[in-house]
Amino acid sequence: MPRSARRPPAVILAPQEVEKMRVVGRFAAWILDQVEGLVRPGVTTGEIDRLVARLTHERGGVCAPLGYPKGSRHPFPKHCCTSVNHVVCHGIPSDQHVLKEGDIVNVDVTPILDGYYGDTSRTFLVGEVDPEARRLVEDTFECMRRGIAAVRPGAHVGDIGAAIVEYAHARGHSVVTQFAGHGIGRIFHGPPTISHAGRRGQGLELRPGMTFTVEPMINMGDWRCQILADHWTAVTVDHSLSAQFEHTVTVTEDGVEVLTLGEGRTLALD
Ligand code: MF3
Ligand code: CO
Ligand code: CO
Repeated sequence: MPRSARRPPAVILAPQEVEKMRVVGRFAAWILDQVEGLVRPGVTTGEIDRLVARLTHERGGVCAPLGYPKGSRHPFPKHCCTSVNHVVCHGIPSDQHVLKEGDIVNVDVTPILDGYYGDTSRTFLVGEVDPEARRLVEDTFECMRRGIAAVRPGAHVGDIGAAIVEYAHARGHSVVTQFAGHGIGRIFHGPPTISHAGRRGQGLELRPGMTFTVEPMINMGDWRCQILADHWTAVTVDHSLSAQFEHTVTVTEDGVEVLTLGEGRTLALD
């Protein structure tokens, strides 16, 4: 069998499958809307996890993070990721972790409905947050927005990361390269890898139906991270603040559709 048959270069979905992704994507966004209503000083990340689990199960869905990846010696133990302050990603929710005024917390959810995965995250402000941290969060959202705006048929995967890294550096931040966006559909993490620090014109050419995440992690200091002894929690090496936003998107005939926006929401792409 040719190599390309065993390892397709990208998750490419048919129109009926994109419709399933719209359903789960809208649901994932709605879950984050509910989480937003819970986040305040005094709430634990364990409570956030239970809310995500309950809402997903009530709808007949499955939380992809729980037990991921299958067969691993260290499967992820909770239903979503909660990454606070200097935690870059994959923070593990805990009843012992109480959110306090001034924290920033990324909540990353991935429900599965009817076999399709919707992956999205937002960084929330806990009470009153320092202007510097707020600026990081706003700039990280703008990094994601610019990355998504670079998606269209004929563009290259590298264009996405180029748009992100240029803006992040212009704002004085650094871009995490240890984690990346990924193809998604009936699998959680598929090809292609979407680097958030790419080079224009480099990498796979985008085609309609290609479906993947754009999920830049942006640090106020050093771009490097390390994984804690729990095998999951990624933290900045210098303990500087880190923020992240994530959407699942699909390439259309003439541009991009964001699948995890939620009912009645828009993202200005020009
Ligand atoms: N949702 C994360 C992503 O954006 C992956 C989390 S994997 C987990 O790709 F096991 F930590 F949940
Ligand atoms: Co995610
Ligand atoms: Co993802």
